[in-house]
Amino acid sequence: MISAALLLPSLLSAASLPKRATTLIPKTAFDSTANLEQYFVYNYPWGGTTHNGGARMDKDHVKISTPGTLTITAQPVRGQPPATHAGKQIPINYLSGAVGARQHFTVPSGGGLIFSGSFQATTTRGTWPAFWLTAVNGWPPEIDMAEWKGSGKISFNTFNTSSVLSWKDVTYSNPSQFHDIKCELRDVNGRDTQVKFYMDGAPQATHVGKDYTGKPFYL
Ligand SMILES: *[C@@H]1O[C@H](CO)[C@@H](O)[C@H](O)[C@H]1NC(C)=O
Repeated sequence: MISAALLLPSLLSAASLPKRATTLIPKTAFDSTANLEQYFVYNYPWGGTTHNGGARMDKDHVKISTPGTLTITAQPVRGQPPATHAGKQIPINYLSGAVGARQHFTVPSGGGLIFSGSFQATTTRGTWPAFWLTAVNGWPPEIDMAEWKGSGKISFNTFNTSSVLSWKDVTYSNPSQFHDIKCELRDVNGRDTQVKFYMDGAPQATHVGKDYTGKPFYL
């Protein structure tokens, strides 16, 4: 029984900015399970199967459904031990899946990174699909390149601290269709990073992340 689905076809890619762009994750990364496993690990890339939501991740809920498309599903479950996050216990009512890039991504001084993908994401209440970057060391940085919080909207967020953040919530039309998400990160001054969010080619928001340059991210 599927109650949430996040699908990514072949367009997921991460590249340094032009003019001299280097492809870090190719568009073929979801062409086969072997390709997927070359670039991604299952569950959260920092290790562990739970985070701040009511689902436990496992490999069984992550599939290359057709070549080029990664499908992540959620399934109701009973009898799971709770997750612990920030000192609180969170009941686990679903099994689901996540993949994290094997490599870390760092905006170099004077440079940048581009992340893009095409997503079909549910906005069903209670679901929380996300495509995001988060700090390898400490927290923040965090950039939510696309987050669907079951509200009918898509959110774009950049955190300076847990209480100081830039955010933009946009109505997410036609969730049954694929939508292109792109996020451009560019160093501003050797310390801060400008973050530009695009959906279906249209600019959505521009944020600046404090002290993001030079800090490694998980994807
Ligand atoms: C975060 O810090 C950057 C760099 O100082 C600043 O430009 C930006 O406005 C800050 N964001 C918020 C929401 O205050």
